[in-house]
Amino acid sequence: MKKKEQYALLLKQVQGLLEGESDRVANMANVAAVLHEAFGFWWTGFYLVQGRELVLGPFQGPVACTRIPFGRGVCGTAWQQGKTVVVPDVEEFPGHIACSSASRSEIVVPVIKGKDVVAVLDVDSRELATFDARDAAGLEAIVALLAPLF
Ligand code: SME
Repeated sequence: MKKKEQYALLLKQVQGLLEGESDRVANMANVAAVLHEAFGFWWTGFYLVQGRELVLGPFQGPVACTRIPFGRGVCGTAWQQGKTVVVPDVEEFPGHIACSSASRSEIVVPVIKGKDVVAVLDVDSRELATFDARDAAGLEAIVALLAPLF
């Protein structure tokens, strides 16, 4: 199946999962699980904005860093810019925070409520250049469903 079709199906699946459940943590946990299983990513999870830091939220994959300051790493950069950041090679990203040395490429998608970033979705891959504009669009549509829960 092509990536675009896969994301369209996942969007429907996530809509179904979120229907009738308003708990933010429960829904973030299921969204991380759905994406992680569907694509076989290395690490898939959320960091939540708390003051001037991102704090680890629901995720699938190995143990990760718990706190990331504003503007730091890929996650803190996506938060600062309020935009999705695609990193084809983490070694080429200045300030990348290596929670796992196995991670080679990464995408971070902010969850935006109104004008504020309230969380980020971070996805890591063990392959180089896993993520592109189709992942950005697909993941942005999925996380938009979570924004009203904040
Ligand atoms: N690599 C991220 C840190 C989070 S872990 O990848 C789970 C970053 O640079 O912000």
